[in-house]
Amino acid sequence: MLEIIYNRRSTRKFSNRKIDEGLIQQLLKAALCSPSSKNCKPWEFVVVDDPELLSRLSLAKPHGACLLKHAPLAVVVSGDKTKSDIWIEDCSIASIILQLAAEGLELGSCWVQIHRRFHNDDLTADEFIRELLQIPDHLEVLSIVGIGYKANDRAALTDKETDWKKVMRNKYSKVDY
Ligand SMILES: Cc1cc2nc3c(=O)[nH]c(=O)nc-3n(C[C@H](O)[C@H](O)[C@H](O)COP(=O)(O)O)c2cc1C
Repeated sequence: MLEIIYNRRSTRKFSNRKIDEGLIQQLLKAALCSPSSKNCKPWEFVVVDDPELLSRLSLAKPHGACLLKHAPLAVVVSGDKTKSDIWIEDCSIASIILQLAAEGLELGSCWVQIHRRFHNDDLTADEFIRELLQIPDHLEVLSIVGIGYKANDRAALTDKETDWKKVMRNKYSKVDY
């Protein structure tokens, strides 16, 4: 598990290889096992593998979604606002669990932020996606996780790049950890 966490990097370029149905099931099972506040599991996942829809999803916002165009798979993570006032936290945890599960299955992934992002001046990215995928109004899209086999490997963070200045002990004091 620690190796998976230490080695994970965002993947934005994927090979053409398809992901087996069995692996897709394992990914979604991991997401469904995520912890949530009061165990209320406010998330819903739309698995997208239709190339036309993936291409449309890549236009959800002007920047940072284009990786979806050539991803073989995307999982749209939305939360039920009527079930939890902290659906954002719960859906964020499910999104990262999905990413870590992907890494564990030797797949690459990247989080595409949708919550609080805009498609254009008139439409939020969430509204654009809900219309495209017919997602009902009580749900709001938090993220899309693009997943696929990595086109190239990215190096893990080195010890030098690991920001230990962010860590303090016992009190907030800027001394070496
Ligand atoms: C909340 C969140 C939102 C993100 N949104 C995007 C995004 O919209 N598009 C994108 O290409 N990457 C996105 N990322 C990926 C980050 O850019 C990436 O995690 C960060 O640069 C660190 O790189 P690494 O994941 O390779 O360690 C997001 C990551 C997080 C956690």
